[in-house]
Amino acid sequence: MFPAVIPNLARQGRVTDRTVAFYAERAAGGVALVVSEGLFVHGSSVPPPTGLPAFDPANFDGFQRIAEAVESQDCRMVGQLFHMGRQQLWTPGAASPLGVSSRPDPFRWTVPHVMSISEIAMVVEAFVASAATLRRAGFSGVEVHAAHGHLITQFLSSWSNTREDEYGGDLDGRTRFLREVLAGIRTECGPDFLLGLKMPGDELVDGGITPSESARILQRVSSETPVDYVGFGQGNSSLSFGDHLPDMHYPTGPYLRTQRELRAGSDAPVVAFGRITSAAEAEAVVRDGTGDLVGLGRLLLADPGFPAKVQSGREDAVQPCIYCNACWAEVTQGRTIACVTNPRLGTTGEAAPQVKPALTKRRVTVVGAGVAGLRTAAAAAGRGHEVTLLAGQLGGKARLESQLPGRRDIAKALDYQQRQAVEHGVRIELDVFATEERVLAERPDTVVLATGSRMVRPLGLDADSEPGTSVRDYLDEVDCTGGDLVDGTAVLYDFDHTGGTYAVADLLAQRYRHVTILTPRPHLGDGVPYLNLLGVYRRLYEAGVRIVPSSEPVLCKDNVVRYANVFTGETTEVEDVRLFTWSTPREPNDELAAPLAAGGMEVHLVGDAYSPRSMLAAIHEAQTLAERL
Ligand SMILES: Cc1cc2nc3c(=O)[nH]c(=O)nc-3n(C[C@H](O)[C@H](O)[C@H](O)COP(=O)(O)OP(=O)(O)OC[C@H]3O[C@@H](n4cnc5c(N)ncnc54)[C@H](O)[C@@H]3O)c2cc1C
Ligand SMILES: Cc1cc2nc3c(=O)[nH]c(=O)nc-3n(C[C@H](O)[C@H](O)[C@H](O)COP(=O)(O)O)c2cc1C
Ligand code: SF4
Repeated sequence: MFPAVIPNLARQGRVTDRTVAFYAERAAGGVALVVSEGLFVHGSSVPPPTGLPAFDPANFDGFQRIAEAVESQDCRMVGQLFHMGRQQLWTPGAASPLGVSSRPDPFRWTVPHVMSISEIAMVVEAFVASAATLRRAGFSGVEVHAAHGHLITQFLSSWSNTREDEYGGDLDGRTRFLREVLAGIRTECGPDFLLGLKMPGDELVDGGITPSESARILQRVSSETPVDYVGFGQGNSSLSFGDHLPDMHYPTGPYLRTQRELRAGSDAPVVAFGRITSAAEAEAVVRDGTGDLVGLGRLLLADPGFPAKVQSGREDAVQPCIYCNACWAEVTQGRTIACVTNPRLGTTGEAAPQVKPALTKRRVTVVGAGVAGLRTAAAAAGRGHEVTLLAGQLGGKARLESQLPGRRDIAKALDYQQRQAVEHGVRIELDVFATEERVLAERPDTVVLATGSRMVRPLGLDADSEPGTSVRDYLDEVDCTGGDLVDGTAVLYDFDHTGGTYAVADLLAQRYRHVTILTPRPHLGDGVPYLNLLGVYRRLYEAGVRIVPSSEPVLCKDNVVRYANVFTGETTEVEDVRLFTWSTPREPNDELAAPLAAGGMEVHLVGDAYSPRSMLAAIHEAQTLAERL
């Protein structure tokens, strides 16, 4: 099944064509059940303009369209119902969030208005009314979202619920709200309407819901109103926020053991989910009884065609998810969902893309085999062009990054692109550093320069400073698989703020007795999704890495790095430095463009060679270019 994923595809709170396509394509790919994004049940849980209020009658037609598009493909459509309570991820403006108690939300530190008994009744009623609306619109059921620290978790957990009335205190009191919601929906919508429940499995905070407490809660609520399926989310919006969306640094299936234990809480079928990354893992989950259903969230964002491809024995044609959480970052920053590896996300035909053959077959020479070059070459060849790829090695910067601790998933994206290039007949010439003459020797009609970018020496270094080395050059030389611990200090200057740079820091922490990170900003990680950043900090602090914010290096000489505070200019020295490496803004490797264009050649720059950005930008731009060639 496809679990709830907010895609930010609504506009002014209304279902759009892309909302419908997003769900229809997941159904077309072959899943048995699609759960909608969290639908807002009441205005006191303020929906952003890109979210969907279930309580707004103007959305009824839109919900009907979603139900029709999914159910007509022999797939059940279930609407997820939620109320955020104090955990408003979007600024609520003048509206004050409702909450269970006056404790602040651990993410935004918002102190909510404490719900009165009549306000509680109003929100219970809103859940029930929303379920009834979806039933009338043709949905097969609803899933009540009680996990991830939203309002219902806030009621269930003693960590957030300090009420002294009948909605707080013991298990009976803390489960009352959820029991009223479930009973109300069952009564209103009848026994044939699917009723799912997403439970907090483990809040992963001291004093919060533990797996054994979760099992007790489930027993209590489902003995009163049996549910048709249950799943277990992890974490809340505190420092355990990252645990609800385990990134590439987590092992695969990190919560399956907990989910196995939680089964004991109810007879209901269990949906297992959380970084299940392949058909073999999914099958094992069902075979060993961990789950009766398997939820695949990000995997189906990256490729909704996964079920159909696996069924036909073509799992190697699945566009992989690399568990980078860029999709989540896009959504929580208010932008439309986007996926690094899937440029077609949320468009019609996404589950089984129809390639538009080129009108005129051309000789295309692509230079550089990073993510941009590989994607352009494969997609252009897929359209019928005769493509040659000239490259030193396959994979570019992404291949280097994939060798770093916790970054192995990135290699999956490269391997997939390489398979696609081979399948579509791209002629790959390796160990080539392409010059103008070498490119022209291919007699191309079109040249695509996917030659990447290089890091620039930190500008603030004194003229007589030793240069140090870019992390890119360091990675080219170092063996990431092992080596002796070096006494002394490695200094990493972080003027980049991406996950890849912190993975370099993780590697340095394994290699050097001491590691110091300098950064000119007052904090780390502006380019890292917040969920992943929690893991970055955790790893760095646990490894004893020293972080010096608001600082930039001014001199590296004789094993000493001197740095200055960017606000005061005050300088400090790090001694016994054995490595000074920097991750800095890059400049494009575009030197071949001008001479080739001057000779009358059609030249395109793509990825970092056009302008140094990210893997997402490089892959999306490459796909767009290939579709235009
Ligand atoms: C340290 C670091 C961390 C990063 N972290 C992240 C991150 O966490 N998330 C993210 O999204 N992005 C990150 N990025 C950026 C991301 O890696 C790049 O934006 C992306 O990989 C660019 O891909 P590309 O194909 O355009 O270029 P590249 O990957 O640089 O590929 C270009 C290739 O062309 C080759 N080449 C150049 N000239 C020639 C020639 N004349 N002949 C033959 N071959 C040639 C190069 O050697 C290289 O192999 C990071 C980058 C760095 C350096
Ligand atoms: C962009 C994004 C938005 C999400 N929105 C919701 C949501 O609205 N409700 C919810 O319960 N879970 C939400 N999730 C979590 C997923 O339902 C699922 O629990 C999670 O992705 C773990 O499964 P996976 O590892 O297969 O991706 C979201 C996940 C992502 C990536
Ligand atoms: S953006 Fe990253 S985590 Fe999200 S679906 Fe795509 S590859 Fe997976």
